Amino acid sequence: MRFITQYYFLILFVLLVALTAAVGGNVYQYTENQKLEADKAALIEENDSISTTLASTTMALLTATTTIASLEEVVADLEGDKDNLKDELRDEKNKNDGFEDQIKDIAGTVGVLDKLSKTDKELLQKYSKVYFLNEHYVPESLKEIDNEWKYDESRTFFLHSKVLPYFEKMVKAAKKDGVDLWVISAYRSFDMQAQLKGDYTTTFGSGANTFSADQGYSEHQLGTTIDFTTSGINGGLTGFENTAAYDWLVKNAYKYGFTLSYPEENGYYIFEPWHWRFVGTDLANDLRKDDAHFYDWEQRKIDEYLISIFD
Ligand code: DAL
Repeated sequence: MRFITQYYFLILFVLLVALTAAVGGNVYQYTENQKLEADKAALIEENDSISTTLASTTMALLTATTTIASLEEVVADLEGDKDNLKDELRDEKNKNDGFEDQIKDIAGTVGVLDKLSKTDKELLQKYSKVYFLNEHYVPESLKEIDNEWKYDESRTFFLHSKVLPYFEKMVKAAKKDGVDLWVISAYRSFDMQAQLKGDYTTTFGSGANTFSADQGYSEHQLGTTIDFTTSGINGGLTGFENTAAYDWLVKNAYKYGFTLSYPEENGYYIFEPWHWRFVGTDLANDLRKDDAHFYDWEQRKIDEYLISIFD
């Protein structure tokens, strides 16, 4: 009996252990399941949150992409505007350059007109029996010729003040070359010419017209013209064409703006190798190049040189 009781308790103990183990296993399994359920729920929640974040990020990205696209359009528009502005700027600049050129041209023209208005328009006129200078005409200013350049120091001669520097350069250059150029007549007023012509007419009658201008028609009234004599002809005019002085003048006077008014066989007076008129270096040069004399050219052509007569 005692053995049965012990056996019974053993079985009971085993059963208890088995039951405990079964219950414990189930409890453990239940607990694990609960944990898994909780983890799953947390994962689902996390997934939902990620999905929401992803959706809003995608939305934001889409918005940003749209914004970028519209910004790109704006930039492209701005680039277009910039190019247009560049073109407009270039057009305006070209216009301004054009205006500037026009203004320069106008200023140049005004300068030329101003210079012309201040230049005595009589200085290049043909006064030999063609144009007439009235009794009131006198050059704008006259200066006395230095004694060194006169044949007779007791006489007084005047020259246009702007011509005098050219004259002095010329006679100094001649002197340096061993050639004497002495003045025996320069500026003559209307009255002086009338007196001179009257005296010649008394002596030579109408023959005076071949070598002496009437008052108002002489280049001497301009103050730009000189009659020269030189050594070897006693202070006279006769034979001047055979002197070194004449040769020198023919070769060099143009450099100083002087030209021979009455060459051989001119249509106005006898050959006057002593009579030299200032016309400016440009005109004197071009006449020489053209192998022409002052009265050979049209007045219109000569007038183009007035602007540069004292340059
Ligand atoms: N001997 C020149 C022609 C004059 O009298 O002007």
